[in-house]
Amino acid sequence: MNKKRFYITTPIYYTSGEPHIGHAYCTTLCDVFARSKRMRGYECFFLTGADEHGQKIEQNAESEGKDPQTYVNEKALIFKHLWEALKISNNDFIRTTEERHIKVVQDTFTKFLNNDDIYLGSYKGWYCKYCESFWTDTQVGENRLCPDCGREAIQNEEEAYFFKTKKYLNVLEKFYENPKSITPVSRKNEMINTFIKPGLEDLCVSRTSFKWGVPIKENEKHVAYVWLDALLNYISALGYDSSNEELFKKYWEDENTEIIHVIGADITRFHAIYWPEFLSALNLRLPDRIFVHGLLMMKDGKMSKSKGNVVSPYPLIDRYGVDALRYYLVREVVFGSNGQFTPEQFIERINADLVNNLGNLLSRTVSMIAKYNNGIIPEFVEKTTVFNTELENLVINTVKQYEEYIDDLKITEAYIEVLNLTGRANKYIEDTKPWILAKDEIKKEELNQILTHLAYILFVAGKLLEPVLVTKASEIYAQLGLKEEETSYKNILNVSLLNNRIVKKGDALFPRLDSKVEVEYIKSLMNNK
Ligand code: MSP
Repeated sequence: MNKKRFYITTPIYYTSGEPHIGHAYCTTLCDVFARSKRMRGYECFFLTGADEHGQKIEQNAESEGKDPQTYVNEKALIFKHLWEALKISNNDFIRTTEERHIKVVQDTFTKFLNNDDIYLGSYKGWYCKYCESFWTDTQVGENRLCPDCGREAIQNEEEAYFFKTKKYLNVLEKFYENPKSITPVSRKNEMINTFIKPGLEDLCVSRTSFKWGVPIKENEKHVAYVWLDALLNYISALGYDSSNEELFKKYWEDENTEIIHVIGADITRFHAIYWPEFLSALNLRLPDRIFVHGLLMMKDGKMSKSKGNVVSPYPLIDRYGVDALRYYLVREVVFGSNGQFTPEQFIERINADLVNNLGNLLSRTVSMIAKYNNGIIPEFVEKTTVFNTELENLVINTVKQYEEYIDDLKITEAYIEVLNLTGRANKYIEDTKPWILAKDEIKKEELNQILTHLAYILFVAGKLLEPVLVTKASEIYAQLGLKEEETSYKNILNVSLLNNRIVKKGDALFPRLDSKVEVEYIKSLMNNK
């Protein structure tokens, strides 16, 4: 079923560290989805936020001599500023220390208690304080290592509340039947084989060993387990529990809304197993899609402060512009797979796609229209030559493919199609050789149609790229002589939109980067950390 409204979320990021390009990766891809949907006329609510409770944050704050609230206030601002710098179009930014969220966590806990979903017990197990997770003997193995982060786990016992995970197993079975509920499907199979088949353990949902969390009203020694707290952000932000009935109805309860959680592979278990169970216990509908993206890795593995290989997005935005960084993130690594950041590939990607392909097509086209037709885009005539007919079909197919890919969260694939279109148009210039046609007066009409087709393709590519190139798309339109308000998506297949427009030659869309210099520059950023 095609839904008419969308709710897309990123994970809420821990405010225990500084944001890096890995965080920017997930948020940017979600942003492109949201912008693309809105551009096509759909309503889309896009949520991101900050996860501000837990032992690690408590400890970090203490080591900086701050009270935890001051500490997270500062950190949350750093994330907010980054999203502004990256031109992220989120509709809200939820923080787990906000009153509207704390109330939902406390009320949910009460509901679970009243509904016999949780009980007070005692927990003995292997605890990883970094992941704030308890593990079983089998999971930590002989070396007693946390299966998530690989650090040492310690034996621990504490009084705790437990959620009855087996009570909702049938809900999971049903949820997993839908082939799109958890994708890529390998992630779903991993959940089934690693956690469900061996038998789900009850989930510990409270802690007594630290204070920085949502207090449990029924038992003051306890604070809510950080994952119960964190997951509820997806509904507290919409006003679940009556703070904003209308928004919650529209974006969660209404079946016409497609609910999409985008997460990194490291947190699949919490979203694919416990979150659907919590929602069922609250009698709420389940999300439509949990999309698990891969991680952006460095040559020497995961980005981490201690390895000194963390890349901050800021210097990249300052030097190459927000559009270049956004494009790199969208295009370089197929959404859903792991990828690697290298300075060489970063520069190569910008030069190959934005400078040589898209930028070159724009400057060649505008120059030729200026030179061969006094700057006026000739009127479009359909199916004049085999070349032109092929291009017209290619445009229609590209738009169709683009929409299908975006709808299926295949965002990288969608943009490969768009750059294939501009690549094909560049090749078309080589094939048709306008500079030769220009010498022959009887070839004037043929030449004109080539110019028109090129200009039209630039409009289509600019429009499809607009969710990524949030500043440069306007420059494409301006060079084609279009006003912003004429560039609505409704016009994407309107071949006569550009008839008789006057082109305006501008600067190169993206300046060519000197690989050697720029690779050195990025390396220096990495080494300085
Ligand atoms: N706070 C939890 C999530 C709670 S959601 C209810 C958390 N936070 S986190 O800050 O550690 O990171 C969350 C997400 O950041 C990952 O799931 C992933 O989406 C993104 N990334 C963090 N590092 C990343 C990379 N190196 N590469 C790509 N994405 C990365 O877990």
